[in-house]
Amino acid sequence: MKLSKRLQAIADLITKYKQGEILADIGTDHAYLPVYLVEEGVIEKAYACDIASGPINASIETIQLHQLEKQVIPLLGSGMNPIIDKNIDMISICGMGGKLTVDILDENKEFLDHHRFILQSNVGLEILREYLTNQNMVILDEGIVKDANHIYEIIVCEKTSEKQEYDEKDFYFGPCLRKNKNGLFYEKWYRQLEIQKNILKSLDENHPRAIEVKHMIELIEGEINAS
Ligand SMILES: C[S@@+](CC[C@H](N)C(=O)[O-])C[C@H]1O[C@@H](n2cnc3c(N)ncnc32)[C@H](O)[C@@H]1O
Repeated sequence: MKLSKRLQAIADLITKYKQGEILADIGTDHAYLPVYLVEEGVIEKAYACDIASGPINASIETIQLHQLEKQVIPLLGSGMNPIIDKNIDMISICGMGGKLTVDILDENKEFLDHHRFILQSNVGLEILREYLTNQNMVILDEGIVKDANHIYEIIVCEKTSEKQEYDEKDFYFGPCLRKNKNGLFYEKWYRQLEIQKNILKSLDENHPRAIEVKHMIELIEGEINAS
């Protein structure tokens, strides 16, 4: 199966940081990621979970097409609820907003203790990283990929006994990504800088959001000018 560039980057990180043989993909939509990982022999088994019946039916079609009915199991339900009684090693939650991802993690916090997570939120990554930090999760690695003109970030994380000292810059820019800034990192943040400057121009100087936007501009300029 040929994956999109974004899903391929996620699959590559799962392959690199594989722990155990069983993955649950929450918000799976068409089950492309779990089917690919089982078909490629990266994992032995996967649960393809989604809150809506349309995506679950699409998942069943993908699973049948690839004849993986014994190894990729579709489960209907919200967040991690469908896997509460299942034996799972890794959990992926991809393609949603940071806030929704946090809500899903927080609803069944007990999963954070014993599983490795691969998270890819389209927006609101700072909300997600701050939440992970507050839950004593360590970010083991991060990926960045451009697909259809959008730049996506991927986080691999798990619980740690050592408190991580991530700060606001880490929340926005990613502790691993900012240690190893590549071309896509700069492309994303130069774009964001332009967006923030345009927002600032459109705001009255006394507008309450102007302070926030100025702070964001300072953060981005500081980060892209730092070595
Ligand atoms: C944009 S798709 C992402 C699909 C796939 N994970 C990817 O990255 O390409 C988001 C999927 O998450 C599902 N979803 C939204 N909220 C959910 C929740 N609380 N629990 C489980 N699935 C959810 C939606 O039904 C949809 O199929």
